Amino acid sequence: MRVLVAVASRHGATREIGDAIAEVLQGDGFDVEVADPDDVDDVEPYGAVVLGSSVYVGRWAAAARAFVDRFAGRLADRPVWLFSSGPVGDPPAPMGEPEEIASIIRRMGARGHKTFAGRLDRSGLALAERAVVALVQAEQGDFRAWSDVQDWAARIAEDLHAEEIRKLGFVT
Ligand SMILES: Cc1cc2nc3c(=O)[nH]c(=O)nc-3n(C[C@H](O)[C@H](O)[C@H](O)COP(=O)(O)O)c2cc1C
Repeated sequence: MRVLVAVASRHGATREIGDAIAEVLQGDGFDVEVADPDDVDDVEPYGAVVLGSSVYVGRWAAAARAFVDRFAGRLADRPVWLFSSGPVGDPPAPMGEPEEIASIIRRMGARGHKTFAGRLDRSGLALAERAVVALVQAEQGDFRAWSDVQDWAARIAEDLHAEEIRKLGFVT
């Protein structure tokens, strides 16, 4: 089965989470492509989709939201999982879910949504971004928990294998 991992990432941290998810799925025998959501023209070739976005000022990236607008209707018959990445610090903050995520989950018919902790490196930020980070006193560092990411991806792989077996008609 071909699986699309579409990831909207401004500074690369969320893309690396997408790469880690892809690695687990590949290791489980799936044919995986990782792409920027803006580069996806068609979802027909894929049997399943994982869509992820970094969170800025409470929202998913525009590219991820546009992907939902373009493809939500066409993915109704295929399994979809969503992930967000943003919270930083120990414990990670902010704790709230990104805006509109409930509606995105509903529109995509997603089987799950997971929020992973992110990475904040002030040196790579634009001036306006640094101002926001200073204002909310966000903690700098890499808080991504790779074992959480790998566990989540492994559960997706299990679900997809079960789906393949169901499709082959072995289980009714
Ligand atoms: C200006 C700015 C605003 C942010 N706002 C949020 C936010 O509202 N919620 C959140 O969870 N993380 C927020 N973050 C943290 C980022 O989402 C986090 O650094 C993430 O790992 C960045 O991913 P990326 O490198 O893929 O862009 C913000 C970071 C910056 C620089």
